[in-house]
Parts: sequence; C-alpha cells; structure tokens
Amino acid sequence: MNVLRPIQIAPSILPADFSKLGDECVALEKAGVDRIHLDVMDGRFVPNLTFGPDVIASIRPHVTVPFEAHLMVEQPDELAHLYVEAGCDTLMVHVEVCPHLHRTLMHIRDLGASPAVVLNPATPAAAIENVLDVCDLVLVMTVNPGFGGQAYIPSTEPKVAAIRKMIVDGGHDCDLEVDGGVGPNTIAGPAAAGANVMVAGSALFSDPEGLEHAVTDLRARAEAAR
Ligand code: DX5
Ligand code: ZN
Repeated sequence: MNVLRPIQIAPSILPADFSKLGDECVALEKAGVDRIHLDVMDGRFVPNLTFGPDVIASIRPHVTVPFEAHLMVEQPDELAHLYVEAGCDTLMVHVEVCPHLHRTLMHIRDLGASPAVVLNPATPAAAIENVLDVCDLVLVMTVNPGFGGQAYIPSTEPKVAAIRKMIVDGGHDCDLEVDGGVGPNTIAGPAAAGANVMVAGSALFSDPEGLEHAVTDLRARAEAAR
C-alpha cells in the first residue's frame, strides 16, 4: 500500500548569516522546520568550501531538530564518524564518490546515524536500486551541487518518480528528498512525483514575509500537489 509519508521541510543553512549560525538555527526551529540540512562542502567534490564538524558541533546544542549532513566531500568514509560525533542524525553520501556504497551506508548505520544516499542530476536512478534496503532516505539533487540559489532542474522529476516507484514496489522504508532550487514555484513537481522531504535554502531566507510564512507556505504547496 502506498502510504504517503509526511511532508518535511529541511532548510539549507547555506544562505544563513554565518556570523550567527546558532541564532539562525533557533529561528528556523521556531519557524517550524522538521530538520536542518547542513551542506558540507570540501572544495574538491564541489568547487565550494563551507563548514566542518566543529561548526556543526557548535550549533548542535542550540536546537533540538534533527541534523542531516549533506556530505559533498570526496572521502565520506573517512569523515563520517566526525559528523556523527558533531551531532548529525543523518549522513548523506553521494553515490558518485562511493565505490563501495553498500559498505559505506552500513558503516554509517554502525556509527549510530541514519544512512542516506544522494544522486547528482546526471546520475541515473538505477545507481541506487541495490541499496534501498540499507538506507533510510534517497536524496535526488535538483541542481548541480556546490552552491545555493541555483535554478531548479525540472528534468530530474521523472527520476524522483522512478525512485518513488522503486521504494513502493520494493516495500522499502525510505524517505525521498529533493535538494536545490526548491521554492513556491517549483515544489509542486517533486511533491507530485513522490518526494516527501524538501530542502529549501534561498526560498526560505528570501521570503519577504519571513521564515515561518515560507515554511508554512512550502508545506501547504507540497501537500496540495500530492
Ligand atoms: C547545493 C546544496 C543545496 C542548496 C539548496 O549544493 O546541496 O542544499 O544549498 O539551496 P537552494 O534551495 O537555494 O537551491
Ligand atoms: Zn544540500
């Protein structure tokens, strides 16, 4: 039975004021977000460098919502434990840098975190078909990773639908998340295709009516599109 999983809003803190990340996360929690999406970039897998485990550890005590670390790094296996120790609940690894993906996901679970797998826009759904039984979430990138504020790539929607079908047909207990360019004018597509966790960065922080309005509005638009 295809039971719809609850819609979750996961803000990316990339557009946040890095000089007061703790306060920004408190504001996000107050605005009603379900989890916080932490874009870790190493300047090698993607051409941008953001923050590491020490920054995450410094914001962890300020909020209670779960942390998901989107690891845009070349060597996630070597670094995973640092992000669990920093307080991340979910670790998201890119299939493109995990030659032993099944082992990597099991390693994350052994560390006590929830394993998630990420696909870049050019990576086919088939790349994760054989790990749906060992991950809790699949993240479909709807932009090419590295920066916030990019344009949503609509051609990723059939992939979202295909992965949703894999999850349902296989009876897997997996969330399906999209990340990149998600906002009021784009969220309906991935929601209709089967995504239930929505990452939004610029769309949240640029809402003139504030974070709470942005979170409520995005959630309502996603629910209406299902
Ligand atoms: C891009 C990141 C995304 C991005 C989302 O590499 O993984 O999480 O920050 O930001 P928006 O919603 O502005 O595209
Ligand atoms: Zn991300």
